[in-house]
Amino acid sequence: MAETDLTRRDVLLFGAASAAALLGSACGDAATSEAHQGAASSGGVASSTSSSSSSSSSTSSSGVVAQADGGSDDGATPACIETEDDPLGPYYRDGAPFKTTLIEPGMAGTKLTITGRIRSLGSCGGLAGAVIDAWQADDSGTYDNAGNRLRGRFRADANGSFVLETIVPGWYLNGASYRPRHVHVTVTADGHAPLTTQLYFAGDPYNATDSMFKPSLAMAVSDVAGGKAAAFDFVLRPA
Ligand SMILES: [Fe+2]
Repeated sequence: MAETDLTRRDVLLFGAASAAALLGSACGDAATSEAHQGAASSGGVASSTSSSSSSSSSTSSSGVVAQADGGSDDGATPACIETEDDPLGPYYRDGAPFKTTLIEPGMAGTKLTITGRIRSLGSCGGLAGAVIDAWQADDSGTYDNAGNRLRGRFRADANGSFVLETIVPGWYLNGASYRPRHVHVTVTADGHAPLTTQLYFAGDPYNATDSMFKPSLAMAVSDVAGGKAAAFDFVLRPA
């Protein structure tokens, strides 16, 4: 994990947010039962009212904050720094299919659309055809450990841009404490070291007590029509 990532973007996003979480443990979601809590499960996706995840008026992403150039590939910028890794956790399943959305008919929860780019450390250029393998808990905090519900791979376009449409994940117990809302991802691109990490929600009440939470991985989440939206750019290290 690159502690050098704790730079301006973290300050911008979190201010005095506790760094204690950075001293966290090694392994992911402990193999404890997944209690279901909060997140007031609603009847279907696209309700923007069921989630209590944070909202923010900010539109900046956390991976590459407020690129002044609007995302052009004109060379490295101070903000284009390697994305921090985070534990894989015990719920990863290999071989998830390629999808255009993780949302399935009738799925409960609040729609969440994460957009961003996958970039190369150094050039900061977009990585065409990079792949995000994403998995997460459902609205009630439960993983599908038998199938591919809320699991899927997404391929970036020629600019390295991606759209990950899903729902806001629920909280679940990890030992005696709840894990904050998070989306697991593994990001791969030709010529680059694979990245395994987790995306968090700025303002989640459980961020401060989670052993895996890293401020640089927190997304600013905004309310939008039909749900919520967030942005995050991944920056991969050339292999
Ligand atoms: Fe998890």
